Amino acid sequence: MEKYQKLLPFSASIGKTGELEIAGHNVRELAEKWGTPLYIYDGITLKEKIDSLYKLGAEEYKGKFDITYASKAYLSLGFARHLASLGVGVDVVSLGEMKIAGMAGFPPERVHLHGNNKSEEELEFALDWGVFSIVVDSLEELAFLEELAARKKKKMQIWLRIAPGVDVDTHPYLQTGHTASKFGIPIPDGQAVRAIEWAKGSEWLNLIGLHTHIGSQISDAKPYQRAVRMLLKIAAEADFVPQQISTGGGWGVLYRPEDKETKERDWVAMVADALHEECAALGYPLPQLVLEPGRWLTAQAGLAVYRVGFQKKSREGIHVVAVDGGMADNPRPAMYQAVYSALVVERPMAKPIQKVNLVGKYCETGDVLIAGVELPEVKRGDLIAMPSAGAYQLSMASNYNMAARPAVLWLEPGSVELLQKREDPSDAGWWVDAQ
Ligand SMILES: Cc1ncc(COP(=O)(O)O)c(C=O)c1O
Repeated sequence: MEKYQKLLPFSASIGKTGELEIAGHNVRELAEKWGTPLYIYDGITLKEKIDSLYKLGAEEYKGKFDITYASKAYLSLGFARHLASLGVGVDVVSLGEMKIAGMAGFPPERVHLHGNNKSEEELEFALDWGVFSIVVDSLEELAFLEELAARKKKKMQIWLRIAPGVDVDTHPYLQTGHTASKFGIPIPDGQAVRAIEWAKGSEWLNLIGLHTHIGSQISDAKPYQRAVRMLLKIAAEADFVPQQISTGGGWGVLYRPEDKETKERDWVAMVADALHEECAALGYPLPQLVLEPGRWLTAQAGLAVYRVGFQKKSREGIHVVAVDGGMADNPRPAMYQAVYSALVVERPMAKPIQKVNLVGKYCETGDVLIAGVELPEVKRGDLIAMPSAGAYQLSMASNYNMAARPAVLWLEPGSVELLQKREDPSDAGWWVDAQ
């Protein structure tokens, strides 16, 4: 259990029965009550992570500092309510996310609208609601938004998302700041400078900041410094003094005990240092620094719980253990070759004695949750906990094989709140006669 502590929610412990507890709640009992697969969020982890990041920002950065949560990592109404009460802003990329943020009590001034292909409906909603900024992703979008704002006679506050041409060491599908990325306004052919100059001169757009997001699951802070320097370089070229600079999210987390620890202080300090230096060199006042973590805020707060089903030995001698979830609730292993670890809920202290392929129940060969994970002996009916399950799992979940999305709980000491009820297949569109 000790070696998993750095992956598990902060409130994880072993109860009197020797079983895994989160915030003092017995995980086996929760699984019996709510069924499996079950997802659990630990309120303590989320709160402490937010508090510690605000503290780091205040310690490392000399200007104003803020956090907006990248809601694509996980969002539901109840979760958004907790986030809103914890003081962070929110980054949204769709009408659905905007509406949930609003329903949860986020004031529009705490909302940023991102996306590389926002619809007219989404832009119009954002304009009408008065979000803090629309983060413009291309010159064509800039022209469209200007026309929309003029039509509605409403001046719109914007950031420009710049593609800084910075490579990062992460899975290719998680890189977003390189020159071939679909995200952001490219720098090399002058598009970024043109966008700034255009927005500055617009009657209907109020350019206040520059943004970049270079990728996800990053553990080296140096590329962030290169991105900051790039943003300030093009700002200076266009004679623009940004009120805000956002380097997006992307800071990585641990998925296995053997993963190299990432120090979030490095992330914040190195971004801050680059901003201090560049602004001093240009004689610019320090802009507000806005970080947009998704994974770093929510991954560790989340725990996925599965029930073991049937087991077999393959002809190659591989021990296969199947659980009652898989790629429908967690597509990350199949999409990104993501790696995880696991422990047994009823016996978290038990010594691993075997390497198994922990597989899902869905009809894809790629539905392997963890290949070669070390586990103690397990039998049908045992419960498996997968730590670091709070980001990009449920938000990417599907109904593949007509799977029902799992129930999601929010735990605090003394209280269990249902964030998402287990999907009822009869609610899903394909069970309803569409005629
Ligand atoms: C614009 C933007 N900001 C922030 C994030 C959050 O990234 P992460 O979850 O890696 O922190 C993303 C993720 O795709 C993003 O696209």
